[in-house]
Amino acid sequence: MSKQADLIVGLQWGDEGKGKIVDHMAQTHDYVCRFAGGHNAGHTIVVEGKKYALHLIPSGVLNPEAKNIVGNGVVLSPRDFIEEMSQFEDLEGRLFISDKAHLLLPYHAAIDQARERMKGDKAIGTTGKGIGPAYGDKVARVGHRVGELHHPRRLADKILAHFEMNRPVFEAMGVETPDAQELYHELVEYREALEPFITDTTLLVWKALDEGKRVLLEGAQGTMLDIDHGTYPYVTSSTTVSAGACSGLGLNPKDIGKVTGIAKAYCTRVGNGPFPSEDFGEEGERLRQNGHEFGTTTGRPRRCGWFDAVAMRHAVRINGVDQVALMKLDVLDGFEKIKVCVAYEFEGERIDYVPYDLEGAKPVYRIFDGWEKTEGARSFEELPETARAYIEALEEMIGCRMGIISTSPDREDTIVR
Ligand code: IMP
Repeated sequence: MSKQADLIVGLQWGDEGKGKIVDHMAQTHDYVCRFAGGHNAGHTIVVEGKKYALHLIPSGVLNPEAKNIVGNGVVLSPRDFIEEMSQFEDLEGRLFISDKAHLLLPYHAAIDQARERMKGDKAIGTTGKGIGPAYGDKVARVGHRVGELHHPRRLADKILAHFEMNRPVFEAMGVETPDAQELYHELVEYREALEPFITDTTLLVWKALDEGKRVLLEGAQGTMLDIDHGTYPYVTSSTTVSAGACSGLGLNPKDIGKVTGIAKAYCTRVGNGPFPSEDFGEEGERLRQNGHEFGTTTGRPRRCGWFDAVAMRHAVRINGVDQVALMKLDVLDGFEKIKVCVAYEFEGERIDYVPYDLEGAKPVYRIFDGWEKTEGARSFEELPETARAYIEALEEMIGCRMGIISTSPDREDTIVR
């Protein structure tokens, strides 16, 4: 009988600590699949003292038994992907790239950076990796797919024709037309490195489910960065919510089983855009320092603030979350008082839903008593009473159980209820 896949999804603005949970779950799954985003995502995994930086390769790569799928919903930069692959050996037979995934090429990054510069103080604060332009080309039907790497000459001609047709636009942005010879050679190199991995991954994942294999779907970024349901236009360009796992891999909604949503015990965001519960004061700074809140992909300091129960309830509903994994509870250790955003003041009214545009929404806080220490706790009963009360109140507010609670970066310091 066909099995259902397990899904992991970020519930905030990314960086919720999905890495620790995915890394853990990858050990017990036969397949780990990425369905959206590109190398804008990133987390570091330490195995036996060696550090691995993962951006696009699924976390199952560190489990020698697991197969890893990069689905059609992803945008793939061959140059960066090949570099990421170089950290590992023996990938053949356990890494598969969809022939329908879209190519992210160097000119996409150049366009991304040029657009951000031109926007000035309206910039989105992207990672500058070319994600928006690559997805833009896909939707505008002028993108190129990984499968086209099989024919580098034909692909080079198409890319050059695209530059020819859009010359004034590229010139205005200062994006240079690639040299024909160099482009061809680059594509040949990509083909040589990637050809053994390119396949129809939809058939592969269907077969895995039909054979009763355990399949894990690894979300990237977070719900509030979703192109439709996030804080548009300050979002990434993909479907980051659980529905994206269907279109981004070729699954149907019934293929999705248990959904685990990942959230921090507080909240962060990188880049620009609304963040109602942001704390601009000393406490925000303390969260940043305690939580080491600096981006893995860009090194940028993250904006920090309090748990937003309104946005979280929205995320739980949109993703169909069965259980929340609450991460980095220990970062709140030692705070005398802890705030939680329970509603917004929006256009003169108090509301308890995420409006069309969060800009201008002011947080309404409920204040909780803090605690001394949760760091290293491995059972719910071990937690201080005020920490338990905090978690139980959050569960009530968001309408979902917190089945996993993380109390340090260490894999063992995890409460499973
Ligand atoms: P882009 O995905 O590079 O276009 O960036 C768009 C927005 O998404 C910016 O605010 C980025 O900071 C944010 N973003 C993209 N990827 C991540 C991530 O993995 N974690 C957190 N924020 C991200």
